[in-house]
Amino acid sequence: MSKKIFSGVQPTGNLHLGNYLGAIKNFVDLNNDNQNECIFCVVDLHAITVKQDKDQLKNNIRETTATFIASGIDSSKSIIFNQSKVHAHAEGSWILSCMAPMGWLNRMTQFKEKAGKDKEKASVGLYIYPILMASDILLYDATHVPVGEDQKQHLELTRDIAQKFNKDFDCEDFLRVPEPLIKKDFSRIMSLKDGLKKMSKSDPSDLSRINLTDTKDQIINKIKKAKTDSFPLPNEEHKLKDRPEAENLLGIYSSVLNQTLDKTLDEFGGKNFSDLKSQLAEVLSSKISPISDEIKKLINDQNYLDKVLAEGANKANEIAGKKIKEMKKIIGF
Ligand code: TYM
Repeated sequence: MSKKIFSGVQPTGNLHLGNYLGAIKNFVDLNNDNQNECIFCVVDLHAITVKQDKDQLKNNIRETTATFIASGIDSSKSIIFNQSKVHAHAEGSWILSCMAPMGWLNRMTQFKEKAGKDKEKASVGLYIYPILMASDILLYDATHVPVGEDQKQHLELTRDIAQKFNKDFDCEDFLRVPEPLIKKDFSRIMSLKDGLKKMSKSDPSDLSRINLTDTKDQIINKIKKAKTDSFPLPNEEHKLKDRPEAENLLGIYSSVLNQTLDKTLDEFGGKNFSDLKSQLAEVLSSKISPISDEIKKLINDQNYLDKVLAEGANKANEIAGKKIKEMKKIIGF
């Protein structure tokens, strides 16, 4: 069955292995299946929910675009664009924010985590951020949305908002209710310094993550310094309970090689972390270094990146422009 795929990544710098294994690697597989229509968005409107430096933001938009392409997304097959170039996203977000009850947003755990203790100081944009995400997805009638596990709640909200809009305006099936595509395994990559914390671009320690722009030496060093425990590696999955660092490193190894955790446990059961670490560093650097080299090359070709984004925005505008027009008509504008 052909799928309409939509997903987004924030251009906030430091794209890392979690973004790659949880999302971008899956974008590439979906892009390679000729049956799918894929749209990948650099969500720059989402990025400004927290303060951004103007020049840095511009660079990060290009770097995220370069990362998509360097990872293997083909811009002649998929639409790649940045959100702020397509007005319908912001307009749709306003309309949907007038339908979505505050109670639904109050449940969003990511807002609570990101806003921290001082919620009063968080921007209103950060609070209503999941509604902009719903607008992104619903404007394209996306059938499937590939994301990491941390976005699951936002996708459930998107589904609820779509259903409420259709019911409130008596327009059954106008907004398509999308399916999340979250891999059963390895959809939550954890910090290299703490197996209970998600790998994240905002972690102050660079040693907590493998950045997609890291060199081979940086990757080797970070894996060497990754947190471990003091037991040999187990050979059965249930023995990973309460061993988050072992589970994470074995999971990363499996995901990069596209193999099951069971196979990896067969390979390393009874061995020491040092054996896993040396193999993992090798596997990771042979996967990430070519991407990193390509990102660095593409970053120097700003004209090319800007052209990809401009062409993508034209195509996206056509689709989203039509949908927002219909949406406004339904409302009574
Ligand atoms: P963002 O930019 O935080 O992350 C981009 C993608 O990377 C995944 N991800 C991870 N996966 C596994 N392990 C991790 N440690 C990890 N960290 C990040 C995320 O799940 C995501 O898929 N709100 C979204 C962007 C967005 C979007 C959308 C996504 C905006 N509009 C519409 C899908 C559809 C976000 O902030 O992702």
